[in-house]
Amino acid sequence: MSDSTSKLQLPRRDFLRGGASATAGAVLLGATAKLASGAAHPGGSDEIKVAVIGCGGRGTSAAAQALETKGPVTIVALADAFADNVERAHQQLEAVVAKGKSEGNELLADSKLDCPPERRFAGFDAYKKALETDADLVILATPPGFRPLHFEAAVAAGKHVFAEKPLAVDPPGVRQFMAANEQAKQKNLLVAIGLQRHHDPRYVETIQRIHDGEIGDVVATRVYWNGGGVWVRNRTPDQNEMQYQMRNWYYFHWLCADHYVEQHIHNLDIGNWIHGKTPVRCNAMGGRQVRTSKETGQIFDHFAAEFTYDDGTKMFSQARHIPNCWTEVGEAAHGTQGVCEVSRFRMEGRDGRWRSRLPGVDAWHQEHHDLFAALRRGETYNEGDYGAEATMTAVLGMMAAYSGQDLTWDEALASDQSFAPGLADYTFDSTPPVLPDGDGRYPVPMPGKTKLLTA
Ligand SMILES: NC(=O)c1ccc[n+]([C@@H]2O[C@H](COP(=O)([O-])OP(=O)(O)OC[C@H]3O[C@@H](n4cnc5c(N)ncnc54)[C@H](O)[C@@H]3O)[C@@H](O)[C@H]2O)c1
Repeated sequence: MSDSTSKLQLPRRDFLRGGASATAGAVLLGATAKLASGAAHPGGSDEIKVAVIGCGGRGTSAAAQALETKGPVTIVALADAFADNVERAHQQLEAVVAKGKSEGNELLADSKLDCPPERRFAGFDAYKKALETDADLVILATPPGFRPLHFEAAVAAGKHVFAEKPLAVDPPGVRQFMAANEQAKQKNLLVAIGLQRHHDPRYVETIQRIHDGEIGDVVATRVYWNGGGVWVRNRTPDQNEMQYQMRNWYYFHWLCADHYVEQHIHNLDIGNWIHGKTPVRCNAMGGRQVRTSKETGQIFDHFAAEFTYDDGTKMFSQARHIPNCWTEVGEAAHGTQGVCEVSRFRMEGRDGRWRSRLPGVDAWHQEHHDLFAALRRGETYNEGDYGAEATMTAVLGMMAAYSGQDLTWDEALASDQSFAPGLADYTFDSTPPVLPDGDGRYPVPMPGKTKLLTA
């Protein structure tokens, strides 16, 4: 992995305390430190076996990218809540492997899909069955509401993990992830997180220059995910309420949190990386102006937040899902001696104008090259701390906007507010934790009224 060797590991006690001593930059536990003999890759062969849990768009792409890394990779299990998604993923991955071999793609030469029907699992408990296989590594790409549960189970089963962001939807979930991540470190399990900007050398170079003082001391950052919105999966007559919410997961807090967490986490993560720490407090506002239909569940369509770090520096954030408005997905930093357009990889600072000349990479693919190479080299590798910090930053902003309160990191992280109590026991026959009213509308947070710090 290219970007992470110079940063500090975040001790858990600092994370739990929040603020000053936390660091949110790229974190890797000493890329050159070797794992205990045989721990990185049990079995002694070159083959790395992978199970996929959550076989939708991202899970399938991540599996394809894992297959297309150096050395033999075999997908041995596919697990999803829905059988049709398992079968679609299987077909797509078959096509990826076949195309790669027919085109002579060397990275796919020794990789394969070996998922007979008995290793294709559906249902809420599909993840358990995937974890019972002899997979070395699991890709976790369900909606984020399940991430802490699945991550904890994967670590307990002794699997290396690639986990998509976000890592949780609420503070208890963040704490559950962090506790399991400590277990992963103790067990020498590799943990990669889908915050792929850390694997783009241009981000690494640009942020390193900021840390080297090229724009002086950072005073403030600005981070944005302003876009038009995402898909809606309409209700069908054959669905019960649980099946509907599971399909249309983006719009329910217990499955997604909100777009502020699900998407904007990428930009908030960059802000924390630049500041080198996590914020100590946040005030925010937001609401839903165009996202008013029954199909758009509970989430807001716009947010604006002001985060404060323990040194008084600020991160200003905007996230919007409203069509036909100004769009921007990126980050900028202001320092005492200059300004950096971080996501455009250029700055004007004490040495004048500069922009990165490094070639861009497909960072979604690169993160798999880096993870699998580290696994083959027997290195320690853990991105879980900065992943959890970015998740908690996003959850803090969401909670501040929903409640309309100025919240501290510590009080938010300590909150027992869970969007899905008893999640581990849910089935398709369960009543979801939120239900529509008589008009088919779901409860939407109301600033000034919504309380988000107690269970
Ligand atoms: N890093 C990135 O740039 C990036 C890009 C896209 C998505 N993502 C993340 O990937 C995750 C998945 O997003 P997506 O776009 O692939 O969504 P998706 O709806 O296409 O896929 C999610 C899949 O998970 C399955 N699923 C739901 N609950 C499950 C459970 N309990 N057990 C097993 N399977 C379950 C769904 O049936 C579905 O097939 C999200 O966390 C998202 O934020 C990251």
